[in-house]
Amino acid sequence: MAKVKKKLQVGIIGSGAIARDQHLPYWRELEAEGRVEIVGVCDIVKERRDVEAAKCVQAKTYANYKKMLEAVDFDIIDVCTQNRVHALATIAALQAGAHVLVEKPMAMNTRECEAMIAAAKKAKRKLMVAQHMRFEPRAEKLKEVVASGALGKIYTAETKWLRRRGIPGWGKFHLKKESLGGPLIDIGVHMMDLCVWLMGSPKPVAASGKVYRMFGDRPDLFNADWGVPYKPKEFTVEDYATAFVRFENDITMQMSVSWAANTHDEIEDMHILGDKGGIGINPLGYFGADATSLNRTTWDYLHTEDGHRREVRHFCECVEKNLLVMVKPEESLRIQKIIDAIYASSAKNKEIVIK
Ligand SMILES: NC(=O)c1ccc[n+]([C@@H]2O[C@H](COP(=O)([O-])OP(=O)(O)OC[C@H]3O[C@@H](n4cnc5c(N)ncnc54)[C@H](O)[C@@H]3O)[C@@H](O)[C@H]2O)c1
Repeated sequence: MAKVKKKLQVGIIGSGAIARDQHLPYWRELEAEGRVEIVGVCDIVKERRDVEAAKCVQAKTYANYKKMLEAVDFDIIDVCTQNRVHALATIAALQAGAHVLVEKPMAMNTRECEAMIAAAKKAKRKLMVAQHMRFEPRAEKLKEVVASGALGKIYTAETKWLRRRGIPGWGKFHLKKESLGGPLIDIGVHMMDLCVWLMGSPKPVAASGKVYRMFGDRPDLFNADWGVPYKPKEFTVEDYATAFVRFENDITMQMSVSWAANTHDEIEDMHILGDKGGIGINPLGYFGADATSLNRTTWDYLHTEDGHRREVRHFCECVEKNLLVMVKPEESLRIQKIIDAIYASSAKNKEIVIK
């Protein structure tokens, strides 16, 4: 009799907003394709675990991830809790023998990231941070352009994601003890990961920066479009961050991010500059080095497929076929080192060396 191929056993730790909207729908798609079985949904909030498990074929619910990891022999655990729980849940899952996809940021600090990488190595399991922007079609296109050598020597990059009024109103984003920081660790982590990866992952050597808390505790300025209003009195993170990062070989990066700032609207931009050409995301394109501004190629038609979908499918395939993950944990560790250095620089008012 032909051997029946085992479907990968998948569990989710944290079934809040991102799991509900951008992870579980794609795991269910893979379940419908017969590649995985979602067998465990864990959340400390009963309603959230019950609602998400009910949408799956056979998932059991758990209030405690340690109990869930004891109960089932998981192949994949997807960690979608708030930042404080990332390292704890990831290390427990790796020690239980699962491969782990963990939401961004990798963790709260460099020390936690290093412990996660050590646990993955010891367990011989895959670990990947859910940097979904790398999986977007536009990122794939830009990476191709960089790989073709069309930029020449890449020397600098500028990136920003400024929200006029976009403080997340759900979850624990505004609480320092649960998330560590505001837009720097929330959306800055995306922009820096994409930018550094497109630049060819140079090694960061120093960072200086400043974080500000100007609006977070002003309820009159809160934009209620962003979910249920948080409690401004509890707001303990920054709402704006700016930074200058130095890398090996004289490469540099400027970055600014905000959840609230007096800009005209939301601004998302990135430019990576080389001596032969540059690339940008808004407009998405390649910009050549001739004297006119006509040597440009844009691919705006690419703005479609959800990067989260491709990310979840990629991780599943890596486990199925024992492939290397696209977002290497060591790269995510480097981004965390930059974040730690920016917060330290802001507190000490000086540039911080990154080791
Ligand atoms: N990649 C992206 O685009 C993106 C977007 C939003 C959020 N995120 C990341 O996803 C994570 C979650 O964000 P969210 O918006 O889903 O927040 P959320 O608050 O909606 O969801 C987090 C869930 O984790 C649960 N939880 C907390 N501690 C737990 C524990 N010990 N065991 C089990 N469950 C626990 C909470 O009850 C909650 O339901 C954050 O780290 C955030 O940075 C990523």
